[in-house]
Amino acid sequence: MILNTPIDMHLHLREGKMLRDVIPYTINQFAAAVIMPNLVPPVDNRQRLESYKEEILANSENFTPLMNVFMREYTEDELLDLAEDIFAIKLYPAGITTNSEGGVKSIENIYPVLEIMQELGIPLSVHGETNGFVLDREREFAVVYEKLARDFPKLKIIMEHVGTADLLGLLEEYENLYATVTLHHLLLTLDDLAGGMLNPHFFCKPIIKTPADKLKIQEYVKKGHKKVMFGSDSAPHTIKNKLKGAAGVFSAPVILPALAEFFEGDIETFQKFISDNARENFNIEVPERKIELIEEEWTAPYIVGEVKPMWAGKKFRYKVL
Ligand code: NCD
Ligand code: ZN
Repeated sequence: MILNTPIDMHLHLREGKMLRDVIPYTINQFAAAVIMPNLVPPVDNRQRLESYKEEILANSENFTPLMNVFMREYTEDELLDLAEDIFAIKLYPAGITTNSEGGVKSIENIYPVLEIMQELGIPLSVHGETNGFVLDREREFAVVYEKLARDFPKLKIIMEHVGTADLLGLLEEYENLYATVTLHHLLLTLDDLAGGMLNPHFFCKPIIKTPADKLKIQEYVKKGHKKVMFGSDSAPHTIKNKLKGAAGVFSAPVILPALAEFFEGDIETFQKFISDNARENFNIEVPERKIELIEEEWTAPYIVGEVKPMWAGKKFRYKVL
């Protein structure tokens, strides 16, 4: 099975040793990835953007990092300067997830920024959760997505890591809303996390939800919905930090083998989800690269540096060449 130019539309690589440990697993499977900016301090200025991109390039080959910057109250000059070199600006509500303390406190504060982004054609990427009850946070955020979509009809807005069925309906209602779907929200439910022995390695924001949510997400992905794109949200934390409660699933090593089993021979839909939808929706132009999977038993790594991958040690029927 050959995939053309897979793109991971939502990826956390971190920096330094962690980046060097985890990046080989993405480069091996993806031609490009959208890189999240929630570092400490965040990637929110030209200097930080350039040095982070250089670090990624110095540790990769045949791979295009599509850089995101962290939302703040940018000036028009800053946005004009950044526009050419970024894929999108990532909005984190303040304190909602890992390293988001400096996020947006009130959406109204960034309306002037959104106005300019709309004019310049810079997409908006959103971590859509309120600070309500954990299972309701995405659903409660739907009104914010709707308001943004209405107030900025020409701004392309990405609802990241959709884990709740309620948000998917918005794709039909608003032309300018798009969605990314992770491996874990596609394949797991809250039972995998907390139904038996607690598995902290499946704990992430937004939390994985009900069987009904999972089925709805699977339905949208299986029908090859044009606005639904793969974004792993692979988010490595050391085992030590995971056991302290850090949110994030390190799924990078197992993505294509797991998706190959999910799509079971429907390569056409697999190709759309993993690349074509994203490239068409956002006019992404990156050097093409073919990735081959063969039908051969493959075991997911048990450990990567200090990080335990999702499905560590699990056997898959497909292997990335
Ligand atoms: C991400 C991280 O660890 O950076 N964690 C997560 O649970 N998904 C941040 C994020 O995307 O929310
Ligand atoms: Zn993320």
